[in-house]
Amino acid sequence: MKIATIVGARPQFIKAATLSRVIKNFTAIHEIIIHTGQHYDPNMSGIFFEELNIPEPDINLEIGSGNHGKQTARMLEGIEEVLLREKPDWVLVYGDTNSTIAGALAAAKLNIKIAHVEAGLRSFNRSMPEEINRIATDHISDVLFAPTQNAMQLLAKEGLADKAVFSGDVMYDSIEYYKIIAEKKCFLHNIIKEEPGKYFLATVHRQENTDQIKNLQSIFLAFSELDMPVIVPLHPRTLKLMDEITYRSNVKIINPVGYLDMITLLSNCHKVLTDSGGLQKEAFFLKKPCITLREETEWIETLEGGWNYIVGANKLKIIEKVNANHVQEQKYYFGDGKASEKIIEYMSKNA
Ligand code: UD1
Ligand code: UDP
Repeated sequence: MKIATIVGARPQFIKAATLSRVIKNFTAIHEIIIHTGQHYDPNMSGIFFEELNIPEPDINLEIGSGNHGKQTARMLEGIEEVLLREKPDWVLVYGDTNSTIAGALAAAKLNIKIAHVEAGLRSFNRSMPEEINRIATDHISDVLFAPTQNAMQLLAKEGLADKAVFSGDVMYDSIEYYKIIAEKKCFLHNIIKEEPGKYFLATVHRQENTDQIKNLQSIFLAFSELDMPVIVPLHPRTLKLMDEITYRSNVKIINPVGYLDMITLLSNCHKVLTDSGGLQKEAFFLKKPCITLREETEWIETLEGGWNYIVGANKLKIIEKVNANHVQEQKYYFGDGKASEKIIEYMSKNA
């Protein structure tokens, strides 16, 4: 059986690392990795392949950045060519990026079966490019691997129950596996000077915060008023805007880091402030309270007990919720850490 895995953006490399490791245990499965080139800076792409031992992409389409339509169209053209040549049994796509929809659409047009990992997530905000990508991908895929029961229910509401399979969350598998490696290999003081528990960890990259400079400014003014250093490994999209933004010296901007360093920064921080989807969950997994710099979240399970607060870009709300409490207990919604095995077993039986 041949699987063509489509990746292109940072969070997809992390998810693919975990599935590729499982695929290696199935001798009857041959995986080819197609990298669209959506992310290309060494610290947004290459570092993940190296440190997570992801097999080198068989093909890198090197599409790079661009407007949504042009970028997606170029990926579609490139992926189609590869699929025609490679004739895989399955195309495997992750999440909700432009690489996801391009991979799914290319496969759908060629009648190749599509597996969508992290299906059934909805923000109900169609101004987000990710919401369009994930709805479209879910509706043209053949199997929808849902990370939570809530995702299963949302798929059922859209008439997709017969294609939905509860797998659990691949990112939970990832962090369970890599946190042990990070503990052995990474040291906080090799990354930053701050002491454990004495800094906030923040990331910002979503279109709603970067395209509206007043939102970005408001977020950084809130960071500036916090009573501890705020470590911000900053996505290149946001880094390019920082000349226009005012902030105080407690805000420490660093380049994006690899996944193992990120786990180390997360494990040692006081709380997390982010607009990232993946980081909201990882904060929950490692029991760090999170303040989400968006108007909604797809990961509603994390809101229970005050583990995650939705605050948007509003400075006062950010500061208020940084100081809010959370209960100690957490319920587990994200599977048993074996989502990747379930996904590959299903695909293997249904090739
Ligand atoms: C994409 C995803 C988003 C995901 C994020 C993960 C879409 C629509 N969005 O957003 O859902 O949360 O990846 O990180 O697919 N850039 C660089 N170097 C790089 C990559 C990007 O400088 O290696 C800069 C470019 O200026 C580019 C901008 O970042 O125009 C945005 O990159 P793009 O891949 O279009 O979207 P992301 O914001 O990364
Ligand atoms: N991440 C990382 N280095 C960084 C910032 C984030 O390894 O400097 C990881 C983070 O731990 C999570 C993933 O990247 O696993 C999230 O990706 P991102 O925030 O870019 O995308 P999203 O999840 O919002 O789609």
